Amino acid sequence: MAESMKGLKRTHRCTELSAANVGEEVTVMGWVQKNRNKGGIIFVDLRDRSGILQIIFEQGADLSRAVDAENFAKAETLRSEFVIAVVGKVERREGNTNAAMKTGDIEVRATQLRILSESETPPFPVEADSKTKEELRLKYRYLDLRRPDLQEKIMMRSRVAAKIREFMTNEGFLEIETPILNKSTPEGARDYLVPSRVHPGSFYALPQSPQLFKQLLMCSGYDRYFQIAKCFRDEDLRADRQPEFTQLDMELSFVDIDDVIEVNERLLQYVFKDTIGIDIQLPIQRMTWQEAMDRYGSDKPDTRFGMELVNVSDVVKGCGFGVFTGALENGGSVRGINAKGQGEMPRKKIDALVEFAKGFGAKGLAYIAIQPDGTLKSSFAKFMTEEQMAALVKAMGGENGDLLLFAADKNKIVWDVLGNLRLEIARNLDLLDKNQYNFLWVTEFPLLEWSEEENRYVAMHHPFTMPMEEDLELLDTDPGKVRAKAYDIVLNGTELGGGSVRIFQNHIQEKMFEIIGLSKETANERFGFLLNAFKYGVPPHAGLAFGLDRMVMLMAKADSIREVIAFPKVKDASCLMTDAPNVVDAVQLEELGIAIVADEEKMKD
Ligand code: AMO
Ligand code: AMP
Repeated sequence: MAESMKGLKRTHRCTELSAANVGEEVTVMGWVQKNRNKGGIIFVDLRDRSGILQIIFEQGADLSRAVDAENFAKAETLRSEFVIAVVGKVERREGNTNAAMKTGDIEVRATQLRILSESETPPFPVEADSKTKEELRLKYRYLDLRRPDLQEKIMMRSRVAAKIREFMTNEGFLEIETPILNKSTPEGARDYLVPSRVHPGSFYALPQSPQLFKQLLMCSGYDRYFQIAKCFRDEDLRADRQPEFTQLDMELSFVDIDDVIEVNERLLQYVFKDTIGIDIQLPIQRMTWQEAMDRYGSDKPDTRFGMELVNVSDVVKGCGFGVFTGALENGGSVRGINAKGQGEMPRKKIDALVEFAKGFGAKGLAYIAIQPDGTLKSSFAKFMTEEQMAALVKAMGGENGDLLLFAADKNKIVWDVLGNLRLEIARNLDLLDKNQYNFLWVTEFPLLEWSEEENRYVAMHHPFTMPMEEDLELLDTDPGKVRAKAYDIVLNGTELGGGSVRIFQNHIQEKMFEIIGLSKETANERFGFLLNAFKYGVPPHAGLAFGLDRMVMLMAKADSIREVIAFPKVKDASCLMTDAPNVVDAVQLEELGIAIVADEEKMKD
C-alpha cells in the first residue's frame, strides 16, 4: 500500500548526516537496501544517491525511543527497493560502528515510518560492482542506475559538465546552441536521417558535429563559442564509440594552434583538478604525427609504457629472409618491438600474438626469443647468418630473456600491427595503470589520406582543415605529403579530442575540394552557405572538440563509455530498455511518404 508523504519534508540526504547531528530529529527518504529483523529490533539500510544510512526500528512503550506497534508492523513488511520515509532521531551507534560506511558511527532511531511505494523483487541486486551481465543491466537500466558505482560516475559527469561551463564562461566563451535537424553533408561517418513530412522525399540529417555552424558563428563575430553538444554518427560501435555521443565543442577567432592548445590545457588542468584531484603538469607534451607513428605505431599513443617500435629496415636490408626483403622491395619497412623479459613466453602465447597481429592485416609475425642463456629461438633464423641475427638483436636492444617481434609490410600495416601488438602485450602484462594520466598533443597530421576504396584522397580530419603554410606548395605537386594544422589531444592511448585551424581563404578551400574530388557544383550544393558566408568577411579561426563521454570514462576509470552515459546503446545501436529503433505505424510512414523496401531477411535480425 502506498502512503503519501503529506506533512513530511525531507531534511537530509542519507550521508549528509554525521555525528554532528546527534540528537536532532530528521526526516530521510530513500530505498531499502536491506533489512534485518532481530526480533523486537529491525535494522534497515536506507539508500539514496548520497549513500547508505542505518535506521533502527525498536518496539517498546517509550515512544521517544521506539515506534508504535503499527509502525513496527509496517517495518516488518519492508523488502529491498521499497521506497520509504522515516522520521527519527540521530544517535551515536552503541559499540557496533562500521568504519567502512560514511555514516558508520551513527544511526537514525525511527519514530515514524511511511511506505511510499513497494517494489517487486528486482531482477538483480542493486549493489556496487555488480556481477550481473551488462545486457540485463541495460534492460533494467533504471535499476542499474541506482547502483552506487554507476551513480558515482553519472554524478561525476554532471560535475565535469558544470566545471567546463564555469571555466569556459570565465574565459569569455559564449554557450550557443546549434540545430539538430540539418542538411546532410556526407563526408566522414554515415548520417542519421530524419524524414520530412512537409517535404516528402526530403530528409534532415542529425549533426555529426556542430562543425559548420560553429564556423558560421565565427563569421558572425561571436569570437569564442562553446557548446556541450549531442552528435550523431552511424558508424560501427566499440567500447569508446556510441551512435549518439556528447562533445565539448568550441571555436575561437583570431587565433592559431598555440592559442587553442593553451586554453585547452588550462581547461583540462582545471577540470581534472577540481573533479578528481589530478594535477596535470603544463605544458602537455607535444609530438608530431610522424614521430607518434614511428615510435608507437599509432596516432594516439599510450605513453604510459615504453616498448617502442624500432625501424630495422636498414639492418635487414640484403638479408636472406624473403619476407623482410620482399617488404622492403615493395616500398614497405621492417620494424620490431622488444617485449622485455618475455623471452620464455610459451609457444602457445606467441602463436596467439601472431593471430592477434593477423587481425590487423599482418601476413605473419616473425620473432626472436632470446633465452636466459643467450641462445636464440626464432621463426626465421634459418634464413639469416649469425652476424645478421646478432645485428638485429643489437638494433632492438635485445638482452637475454627478451622477446623480439617483427612485422614486415607496407608502413601503414606495420604501424597498425605493432602499435596494437604493443597494447595487447601491455594489457596481458598488466602494464596499464589507470591511476596514471598521460596526456599528449599529436600535431602535424597529414592533411589527406588515400582511400583505396574510393580511389581518391579524403580529408584526414575534415575538408575545412588548413594545410601547414610551409606545405602549401605541395598541394599541387604531392598532396599526400601535405601536413595539416590539425591536432589531437590523447590521454592514455585514447583520442580525447581533436581540432584544427580552418581554411578561411576561398582559393585554398577550392583547391582542397578539388583534391578530394568534390566538383565546384557539388561543393556549392553541400557547403554553399559556408562558402558564401566566407565572402562577407571571415576571421581566421580554429577550434577543437573533446569527446565528453571519453573524458569522463577515463576520469572515472571505466572500461567503456557506456558506464558514463545514463542510457547508452549497445553494439547494434539499439536500446535494450526501450527497444529503439522500432517499427512504426503504417500511418506514420504514409504521412512521410515512405515505403519500406528492405529485404525481409534483414529486417528479421
Ligand atoms: P572529431 O570527429 O575528431 O572532430 O570528434 C571529436 C571527438 O569526439 C569524440 N568522438 C566520439 N565519442 C564517442 N562516440 C563516437 N562515435 C565519437 N566520435 C567522436 C572523440 C573525438 O576526439 N568537428 C570536429 C572537431 C573540430 O575540428 O573542432 C570533430 O567532430 O573523442
Ligand atoms: P614462413 O617462411 O612463411 O613460414 O614465415 C617465417 C616466419 O615469418 C613466420 O614466423 C611468419 O609468421 C613470419 N612472417 C610471415 N610474413 C610476415 C610478415 N609480413 N611480417 C613479419 N613476419 C612475417
